[in-house]
Amino acid sequence: MNVGVHRINNICIVGAGNMGHQIALSAALAGFTVKCIDLNKEVLLKAEQFVITYLPERVAKGKLKQADADAVRAKLMFTSDLAEAAGEADLVIEAVIEKLEIKRHLFAQLDRLCPSHTILTTNSSYIVSSKVADVTSRPEKVCNMHFFNPALVMKLVEVVKGPHTSEKTTGTLMEVCVRMGKTPVLLQQEIYGFLVNRMLSTIKNESIYLLDMGIAGPEEIDRAVTLALGYPMGPFRLMDLTGIDLTYYVGMERYQETGDPAYRPSPSIVEKFINKEWGRKTGKGFYDYPQKE
Ligand code: 3HC
Repeated sequence: MNVGVHRINNICIVGAGNMGHQIALSAALAGFTVKCIDLNKEVLLKAEQFVITYLPERVAKGKLKQADADAVRAKLMFTSDLAEAAGEADLVIEAVIEKLEIKRHLFAQLDRLCPSHTILTTNSSYIVSSKVADVTSRPEKVCNMHFFNPALVMKLVEVVKGPHTSEKTTGTLMEVCVRMGKTPVLLQQEIYGFLVNRMLSTIKNESIYLLDMGIAGPEEIDRAVTLALGYPMGPFRLMDLTGIDLTYYVGMERYQETGDPAYRPSPSIVEKFINKEWGRKTGKGFYDYPQKE
């Protein structure tokens, strides 16, 4: 049965952080008209600065024509006005902090602000869309659309169908991924951590255990994983890339939800979280990252 697809031209990305601004830029590079919204002016400014630096670098590297870079600038807008960003969207990709209550509040707002045809998705690493679909009047148009960091580079997107999600919605999202130059995988059922983060968390947790036990340091563990297993990056460098704050929030959220102490962030993660050593974004994590002036 051909269930058809929705027509998507305008995309709204909510959250201009690590993931949000790179998803926004990927979409603009693929020709979509994109509004990226964040209430935090500092985050918004940093995101815009990234784009201003990134596009000329791509032109200089010969990877992008100047005319295409100009077209991207014209198609990508940063704003702090949610109503404006959501009002004309055909598709929303939420990429805010991993806190369920914040996402539920946001989805209720988006449901009020967006036209009735708009598909609402979450880029959450772990939270399934059925946890936010019930606050909307359009659960059949609510779905997970999970990108990977760095989103400009990583090809995979997990599209996770909830029990409420229609096939027309998943079909549309699969098509949007392809138009963005990504390769989607469709999960027919919701599962905590989807495919990739389930596998990744096993190696990450084991690495943190080895560190906390004093068996080896981050550099040794990363070296072992890259050189023996062939991963492009070891787990500690990867946590610095994705954000140690994310590792902390995801662990706490799951611990509070299940009461299972196995999910509670380990002492080394708690210490880094408290000291704001969140990885590349703060200039220090398991490694140091000198900040550019
Ligand atoms: N942002 C944007 N582009 C980046 C980038 C970044 N942070 N880092 C690297 N790139 C680009 C470079 O510009 C370059 O582009 P080009 O080849 O078109 O010129 C290309 O990536 C390769 O860069 P480098 O040669 O500098 O570096 P590497 O070859 O080492 O690649 C990497 C860098 C792509 C980050 C690679 O190390 C890698 O794939 N690491 C693993 C990443 C990973 O596992 N991601 C998944 C994380 S889990 C996740 O996201 C789930 C979520 O829920 C948390």
